[in-house]
Amino acid sequence: YPTAKDGSKAVAQEIAALIKARQATNKNVVLGLATGSTPKYLYAELVRLHREEGLSFKNVITFNLDEYYPIEPDALQSYNRFMKEQLFNHIDIPEENTHVPDGTIPKEKVKEFAAEYEAKIEAAGGIDLQILGIGTNGHIGFNEPGSALTSHTRLVTLDNSTRMANAFEFSNMSLVPRLAITMGLNTIFKAKRVVLLAWGSHKSKIVQRSVEGHSSDQVPASLLQQHSDCKFVIDEQAAEDLT
Ligand code: F6R
Repeated sequence: YPTAKDGSKAVAQEIAALIKARQATNKNVVLGLATGSTPKYLYAELVRLHREEGLSFKNVITFNLDEYYPIEPDALQSYNRFMKEQLFNHIDIPEENTHVPDGTIPKEKVKEFAAEYEAKIEAAGGIDLQILGIGTNGHIGFNEPGSALTSHTRLVTLDNSTRMANAFEFSNMSLVPRLAITMGLNTIFKAKRVVLLAWGSHKSKIVQRSVEGHSSDQVPASLLQQHSDCKFVIDEQAAEDLT
């Protein structure tokens, strides 16, 4: 797409069509959602479709990819807070239908929490459409290079490059959490359809390696070449290095 806004609008249309198709048969839609700067236009467009075109989210269930650990849900950098501010507070989705990993779980309970998160996704019928961003090191969710294709929701250590990329949100580098709870690669792979978004020239090299390089756990997004229904939606700048 020429710009991030154009790409985001197209993805919003795809989501809206899925929601409406399910509404016609009284069924739910399960969306997997991402945070960060990449999906902001997408969420703004979904909010616009709700406000101006009456798109209802009453039949939508969402599961977010990840959350810093530890973090309070109302902290400025919390992904729980991000989702409320960018999307949930502005649409008619029932609060109980939204799920974002809890950054306040005591460490000894994280495994149990992660297993329950997976079970809730399964109980909802599995993810119909998973939205992803991509880290400049190729991470998806917070599955950093070296993550196993068999990985489930778990506590992970963030790469230094990821902490640096996200440091602007915190007042100094030492305050960036070292850990996060993330869906695993297996969790993401079970989604029926995956749409990865990437905007800007700072993403062009990793988009090229993910799409045209060989599929390797050193570039987690390149593993998506093995998914049966995956699309990368990118702007012209993010496409600069494609051959
Ligand atoms: C966020 C997430 C991450 C981001 C990635 C890109 O929920 O899962 O993988 O998508 O770090 O971040 P931005 O969009 O800020 O460039």
